[in-house]
Amino acid sequence: MTQPVSRISVPAALALGSAALGAAFASGLFLGRWFPPWRSRREKSLLPPEDSPLWQYLLSRSMREHPALRSLRLLTLEQPQGDSMMTREQAQLLANLARLIKAKKALDLGTFTGYSALALALALPPAGCVVTCEVDAGPPELGRPLWRQAEEEHKIDLRLKPALETLDELLAAGEAGTFDVAVVDADKENYTAYYERCLQLLRPGGVLAVLSVLCQGEVLQPKPQDKAAQRVRNLNERILRDARVHISLLPLGDGLTLAFKI
Ligand SMILES: C[S@@+](CC[C@H](N)C(=O)[O-])C[C@H]1O[C@@H](n2cnc3c(N)ncnc32)[C@H](O)[C@@H]1O
Repeated sequence: MTQPVSRISVPAALALGSAALGAAFASGLFLGRWFPPWRSRREKSLLPPEDSPLWQYLLSRSMREHPALRSLRLLTLEQPQGDSMMTREQAQLLANLARLIKAKKALDLGTFTGYSALALALALPPAGCVVTCEVDAGPPELGRPLWRQAEEEHKIDLRLKPALETLDELLAAGEAGTFDVAVVDADKENYTAYYERCLQLLRPGGVLAVLSVLCQGEVLQPKPQDKAAQRVRNLNERILRDARVHISLLPLGDGLTLAFKI
């Protein structure tokens, strides 16, 4: 017995096929994986978009950005990859934590133009020091005039070499347990090594901040080729089980873990 011949024309079949594909994407059903339709919107950032009236209200009622810090942020945003700078509310929170614990010594891994370094320097007393680590000499030199304008340049100790080398030098120099704050915001390849060394360098009661711990949602299901997200995911598991720290994971920026050394 012969099968009934389909009465549908080729263009109509193509139109139906693409409509079905579109619907599958829209509902998040594709190739056997189910994602809710809001996944990409909701999980890239857990917060409202920066230009939403409510977020603008929150920023306008909370930010107290030093004029030089503001100039540095605006200058940085004009640069390629300027948005890799931490957000102003993250920087202000870290600066406030530094003030709260009366920090004198801070570590900053990943200087870029120095937005985080300058925010920390402004929170430290006159004899305070931020050791900031960078491999690329260009961005810090762009930011340096604004460190100077803020009269904080003397507190910012830029180490131009891989951050792991600087951390090992600090440990070898007997500086374990002497830092009050550490901020991990450099290459993800070394995130776990940075976490372990920074924890050694911090004093009990010190604060360790790890940036970008949500990897724009990729931590949920890192693709096999996305080693960075896989590494961050592993570090998040490690921190969760780490009895040496109390923790919080805040949905600020691309996710900010705070680990308080016990
Ligand atoms: C996310 S940006 C840092 C942003 C900065 N904390 C801020 O708030 O503006 C990361 C920086 O880490 C630097 N970096 C990458 N690998 C590094 C390494 N092995 N050691 C030190 N810095 C590194 C990059 O050159 C880049 O400038």
